[in-house]
Amino acid sequence: MAFSEQAQKAYLGFQQAFGDTEGVRVFFAPGRVNLIGEHTDYNGGHVFPCAISFGIYAAVRKRADRKLRFLSANFPQVGIAESSLDELVPSADGKWINYPMGVIWAFERAGEILHRPEVGSLKLNEGMDISIYGDIPSGAGLSSSAAMEVLIGTILRELYGFSMLSNQDLALIGQYSENEFNGMKCGIMDQFASAMGKEGCAIFLDTNTMVYEYAPIDMKGMKLMITNTKKKHQLVDSEYNLRRQQCAEAIRQLQTVCPDKKALGEFSIEEFEAVKNVITDPVVLKRAKHAVYENQRTIEAVAALKVGDLVRFGKLMNESHVSLRDDYETSCEEADILAEEAWKMPGVLGSRITGGGFGGCTVSIVREETVPEFIEKIGAIYLEKVGHDADFYELEISGGPRELVP
Ligand code: GLA
Repeated sequence: MAFSEQAQKAYLGFQQAFGDTEGVRVFFAPGRVNLIGEHTDYNGGHVFPCAISFGIYAAVRKRADRKLRFLSANFPQVGIAESSLDELVPSADGKWINYPMGVIWAFERAGEILHRPEVGSLKLNEGMDISIYGDIPSGAGLSSSAAMEVLIGTILRELYGFSMLSNQDLALIGQYSENEFNGMKCGIMDQFASAMGKEGCAIFLDTNTMVYEYAPIDMKGMKLMITNTKKKHQLVDSEYNLRRQQCAEAIRQLQTVCPDKKALGEFSIEEFEAVKNVITDPVVLKRAKHAVYENQRTIEAVAALKVGDLVRFGKLMNESHVSLRDDYETSCEEADILAEEAWKMPGVLGSRITGGGFGGCTVSIVREETVPEFIEKIGAIYLEKVGHDADFYELEISGGPRELVP
């Protein structure tokens, strides 16, 4: 028996960098794709993501001292990055190790993050050597950072005996580390999808209550396709954080007439339409409209899926894209081309940008027999209009984080 090719890359990297593999353990955590429910997770709304077969692999071993040594096969030019348990501060040059470091830092605040004082501060007394390899296409918006956070959380739990932590706890700690250590004020969706992933299922999560349900994805002769714009996106964090502020402003103004509402996700469309005019800034109003309508679309989409109505599901995906393009303004030209060209094809039921936006991927429902034509046609138009190609992958829904054995 042997490790998969990807796991082997992490394992061999370990051997080359740190000498031997005595006692080394190998772990995996998945990335995610969101089927519908975008920018709703920090508005107390619903999301519908699933974990994917792309993810991050790590070969890891505890050390006897307090050193931390990191290696990534994805950033060979960085080589071994060294730090220690006494230096848990983000480095200004934004090195990738800020993600694992952030999780180790957040574990020290676990009791507080989870509102469970009995958990206390989970401090490590020994450091580790860790070698990473990820096969999530870089910059694709498929949550490599969440995969990294969940991976490190899983490793800390398994290696250091923090068995009081559930996978959901790992998601919350990962989100906290990204918010507070890395300064990206993300919602819970990505970490939750990675930590709670289940093969063959998407996760219908109400971020207001954290109640969730697994929905089997039975595509009935359809395929879920991911298309990567390969756009190098910039300013994502600052634009993202700005959207959050705009939504916070919207709810603040709405509360002047609806004091009981705590989040945009608590509004039905009728309730919102009745009071929306208290929002004075037209841009803030558009953002709020997206958050409210997208949440309702997500609820409706999951209901449609449950009765096997993929046509309706696809239409709602298209509406989601239009709303992200026009009201939330987190799409980009490249993703618009992919989605809009897909809508023109008879064998495509729905297509939308997925994830935080400003680049990344679209997700589409395509009839199985149309897939080759989809790739060829959309690929050619994209190349012509954008000047570089797009990548196409068939979505494979994966399980959550796990230890791998050869
Ligand atoms: C990013 C964030 C998520 C979520 C999406 C948009 O992926 O990390 O929390 O807000 O954007 O739906």
